[in-house]
Order: sequence, then C-alpha cells, then structure tokens
Amino acid sequence: MTRRVLITGCSSGIGLALARRLAAEGWQVLATLRDTSQPPDVPVGVEFLPLDLADSAVITQLAGRIDRLDALVDNAGYGLVGPFSSYSLAQMQHQLQVNFLGPAQLTQALLPALRRSGGRIVVLSSMAGETGLPFNSFYCASKFALEGWAEALAHELPPQGVQIALVEPGGHRTRFGANQRWGENLHQLHAAEQQLLQGFRALLARRLAQPGKSEAAVVDAVMHLLARKRMPLRTRVGGDAIALRWLKALLPESWAQRLLQSQMRRMLTRPDPRAGGDRGTPS
Ligand SMILES: NC(=O)c1ccc[n+]([C@@H]2O[C@H](COP(=O)([O-])OP(=O)(O)OC[C@H]3O[C@@H](n4cnc5c(N)ncnc54)[C@H](OP(=O)(O)O)[C@@H]3O)[C@@H](O)[C@H]2O)c1
Repeated sequence: MTRRVLITGCSSGIGLALARRLAAEGWQVLATLRDTSQPPDVPVGVEFLPLDLADSAVITQLAGRIDRLDALVDNAGYGLVGPFSSYSLAQMQHQLQVNFLGPAQLTQALLPALRRSGGRIVVLSSMAGETGLPFNSFYCASKFALEGWAEALAHELPPQGVQIALVEPGGHRTRFGANQRWGENLHQLHAAEQQLLQGFRALLARRLAQPGKSEAAVVDAVMHLLARKRMPLRTRVGGDAIALRWLKALLPESWAQRLLQSQMRRMLTRPDPRAGGDRGTPS
C-alpha cells in the first residue's frame, strides 16, 4: 500500500521541499496550504488541502477526511519578533495558536488514523525550542510548548503503536524571515529596549547579507527519521543548533546562561555599519 503523509505549511520552505521529496520517493502526500488558489509547482502525488491552524473548525473538518495516515509532519509555523512589550494580546494568542495549539489539535484529531497504520509524527520545533532567544520570546514559548508536549507524548504514544520526534533546526534561509511578524506597539518602548531593538535590526540585516543555508539538511533529517525503525526524540539540524545543544549539555547551567547572555548582549550592541539609516525597520 502506498504510504501516506500529511505535511502542514507547504506553500514554501521546509514543508514544500519535503512534499516534493516525499512525492519523488513514492509517498502519497497531503500538503496543506492556507491559500489553495495559487498552489506551488509540485510533482504528481501531492494533493493540496486548505488549512489555517488558527481556525479550529477547519482543523476538525480536515482531520475528518483522513482515515489512514503513515506520517504526520507538523511543520507550519511563523515567528513573532520584537520586544516582548510590543506584542498585543491578540498577537501572543495567535502565535501560540498557530505554532502550538493548532498543531496539537490537528495531531489529536489524526491519532486514530495514525494508530491504524502504526504511524509516526514529526514536529518541527527549533533551536528556539530549547534556548530562549532575545526578541523571540513568544516564538520561543510556542516552541518550548511543542517540546514539552512531544516529550510527554513520547511516553504515551509508543504503547499505541505511534512514534513522535522533534526536529530542531537552526537558522535556514526559507520564507521564514520574510514571514516573520513584528510586535504592533513598537513606538512605546523603554529606552533600553529601543537601543537593543536597533542592535537586533542590525543583526538581522547582517544575517541577510550573508549567504543562508538552504532547507535541504532539514528535509534530509526528516527523511532519515521517517526511514528509521525507531525515531530518536530530538534531532538538531545545523551548526548553530548543535553548538547550542553542546554548550548547554557540557557547562553547568549558570555558566551556560552567563555565556549566552554576554554573547547575545555583544551581538545586540554591535554597531550597525549602516548607522544612521533605518533599513532594518521591520516590515
Ligand atoms: N527557517 C528556519 O530558520 C527555521 C528554524 C527553526 C525552525 N523552523 C520551523 O520550521 C517550520 C517551517 O518553517 P520554514 O522555514 O519552512 O518557513 P516558511 O517558508 O515561512 O514556511 C512556513 C509555512 O507555514 C505556513 N503557515 C504560517 N502560518 C500558518 C497558519 N496560520 N496556518 C497554516 N499554515 C501556516 C506558511 O503558510 P503561508 O505561506 O500561508 O504563510 C508556510 O507554508 C516552522 O515551524 C518554523 O518555526 C524554521
């Protein structure tokens, strides 16, 4: 029987590349999009389904159409960025809904279909799911939530014949940066936040000026997990994610925290080479 996978968030980036790769390897791919009116180019074997993870009625409806599933990839997500005090309540709720509650609701609704085939769940977390990063507080909160949830399910699900794994990428060049949303209240900041925010914008600009890594390694990691007999709970992808992991594993917690704080502070206070300009202004 052809293996069937559902991947959320396939308009771009990791989800789209994974949908193409799995279809090329003979999987039947159910790929979700928020807007199905202009689907991306994909090979035969990919079927697009509409899904907005902020809409719980649509999640229920989608899951109700699927009776058997060999794999679910909870991939869709976005980053809310900026100082914590700039986030509106609606923005914080939306971030947690799309990155955590929506995927959790979808996974719960698809459990019967996954149990039927002894299926597996791969959750796209992030290095921000293990380490707090400045100006990403709610993105980190949403990914930390995924981590605790999946770690608990790694005890509950195997006796039901279902496996779960987390993939934690570091930075990869997809549409993720362009899709980031900024806090709404950027004009009422404390002076210290204002200053750090300038440093954060400069950091983003420096990163954009460098060649980014493609999503290929993340896709390889998911393919590897799907092919393994037993999936490990966590897979880190990229030098940055792996280095952070080792730093936290090898140093006492207070040392690691002090080192990370001074490193982050240094990155955020490095002068902007384009000083005077405002080209790092969030879109
Ligand atoms: N790229 C990185 O550096 C990186 C690092 C660590 C973790 N990750 C994680 O990897 C996953 C994929 O990200 P990516 O890098 O491939 O970014 P991407 O190119 O921006 O793709 C994100 C996908 O999520 C979808 N999405 C956003 N909001 C949604 C919603 N409300 N309902 C349903 N789908 C929604 C997007 O659809 P629309 O086009 O409709 O917005 C898009 O298809 C995310 O969970 C992200 O947090 C990425």
